[in-house]
Amino acid sequence: MSQSFDVKRVTAPQIAGRKGGAPIVALTAYHAHTAQIIDPHVDLLLVGDSLGMVMHGYETTVPVPLDLMIMHAQAVVRGSKHALVVVDMPFGSYEESPAVAFRNAARIMKETGAGAVKIEGGVHMAETIDYLTSRGIPVMGHIGLTPQAVNQIGSFKPQGRHRSEWAPFEEDAKAVAGAGAFAVVLEALAELLAARITKQISIPTVGIGASAECDGQILVLEDMLGLSPRVPKFVKEYAQLGDAIEGAVKAYSADVRRRAFPSDAHTYPMIDEDGGDDEDTKKTEMTGS
Ligand code: KIV
Repeated sequence: MSQSFDVKRVTAPQIAGRKGGAPIVALTAYHAHTAQIIDPHVDLLLVGDSLGMVMHGYETTVPVPLDLMIMHAQAVVRGSKHALVVVDMPFGSYEESPAVAFRNAARIMKETGAGAVKIEGGVHMAETIDYLTSRGIPVMGHIGLTPQAVNQIGSFKPQGRHRSEWAPFEEDAKAVAGAGAFAVVLEALAELLAARITKQISIPTVGIGASAECDGQILVLEDMLGLSPRVPKFVKEYAQLGDAIEGAVKAYSADVRRRAFPSDAHTYPMIDEDGGDDEDTKKTEMTGS
C-alpha cells in the first residue's frame, strides 16, 4: 500500500504560479523566534546573507560562510511551518562551477529542510541556475544591485537610473527566467525598469527598492522594524523597535540599580510542608535568622 504526502508549506511552484496574481509577501528571517511570529503572515521567508551585516556586524555580505547560513536556516525552518524557506547561497559557495554550486546547494537543502536557494547574478549565472533546477533544486534569482558584488560595483547604489543602462538588466532577468528560476529578486532597480522587467518575464519578480508593479515585495525584517541603525531610502519602517528596546533596557537598568527588580511577582516563594507557599520560610531563608 502506498501513501502520498502533500507538502504542507508553500512550495516554489506555488510561488511561480503567482505571476500576475496576488502579490507575494516576503521577509527575511534569521532565527526561530522571529520566524515563528512572521510565518503565518508571509508566503516566503528568506534566510538572507544580509544576516552577516545585521546579526554579525560584517560590513558587507562577502565574508558570510556557508556553515553560518546553514545554522540560521535550520533555526528558521524549525521556527516556521507555513512559508517557503529560501536560503541565500553566500559569496564563494556557487560561482566557481555548476558542480560546486550543486554540492553546496544540496548541503543547504539536506541539512536545513529549506525549500529553495537564492543566488545572485544574471546572464553569467544562467548555466548554474539551469544545472541546479534540472537536478531538483528550486532557485530564486537575484539581479539589479547584487550586494555580494559590492567590491566590483563600488557601493550599494541603485541601478539602472539611466535608460542607457537598462539592456544588461533586462538580459539578466530573461536569462534567469529562461534558466528555470521560479522567481527573481529585483534589488534597488529604477522603478520604471523594474516595472518593465516584470512585464517582460514569465516568472514572478519580488522587489526590494524596485517597484509596486513587481509580483511581490521583500524587506529585511530588522529594517522594517526600525532595528537597523541605517536604512536605505526604499525601506518603510513599520515599527520603531530600536527605540522601544532602548526604553525597556533603561527601565530595567534603573529597576536593578534601585533593587525594584525582581519583586515578589518575579520570584519563587518557598513551598511549606502542606503544599502551600510559605512566605515566612522564604523570609527566614533570605535573612538567615
Ligand atoms: O540577503 C538579503 O537579505 C537579500 C534581500 C535583500 C533580498 O538578499
